[in-house]
Amino acid sequence: MVTREVSARMQYKADHPNVVVMDHPLIQHKLSILRDVGTGAKEFRELVKELAMLMAYEATRDFQLVETTVTTPVAEANTYVLAGKKVAVIPILRAGLGMVDGILELIPAAKVGHVGLYRDPETLKPVEYYCKLPGDIGERDILIIDPMLATGGSAAAAVQFLRDKGARSINLLVLVAAPEGIEEVVRSCENVRIYTCCVDSHLNDHGYIVPGLGDAGDRLFGTR
Ligand code: PRP
Ligand code: URA
Repeated sequence: MVTREVSARMQYKADHPNVVVMDHPLIQHKLSILRDVGTGAKEFRELVKELAMLMAYEATRDFQLVETTVTTPVAEANTYVLAGKKVAVIPILRAGLGMVDGILELIPAAKVGHVGLYRDPETLKPVEYYCKLPGDIGERDILIIDPMLATGGSAAAAVQFLRDKGARSINLLVLVAAPEGIEEVVRSCENVRIYTCCVDSHLNDHGYIVPGLGDAGDRLFGTR
């Protein structure tokens, strides 16, 4: 059973070279608890933060290193350090805020920009209400973060928005994705790599991911 599920996800990954599905056991375990309707806001927030940190670990795999030397208590060691990449973390408000601290624990020097979008409940189209970005956004590797990729409208709007401001290198990190959302981002956003912990079944008539985890923002912040 488990083997079949994992291979189905890998199959999805193979269909889209820019989609990375994170099958790590720790991620899958934490995601299961996150999905549970009985998980309260405190634990939900902790899990979103931990998952974001684990995702950042994978999403930074291609960062460049430079050689250096370090004096250990025993001898000189030839080692490697990060080549000083400039990173911007861009949460899509509100729910993306829950992922910020987890990413910053691994990449403390990253700048944080904010894109405020909400999904109109009737049309399911994104409505923009706020934006504040680092001034040098065009020189930074960007991690857009949002727990949910449903229709893909919000993520695609955020990518377009950032491109209009000069952004070049863009990655999208989500916890749960619907196939519809992935298709939309792949279709409308060139050269954006999508990292997700899972690809769920479909969207329901209200645009919610099935099985998903419900409304991520409401579960993070205790609203309804
Ligand atoms: C949720 C979620 C995404 C968006 C995904 O935010 O956090 O931003 O919906 O849906 P889409 O892929 O169909 O655009 P929401 O609009 O509910 O706002 P919130 O974060 O303030 O709760
Ligand atoms: N936004 C959410 O928070 N959850 C969904 O399932 C879809 C959009």
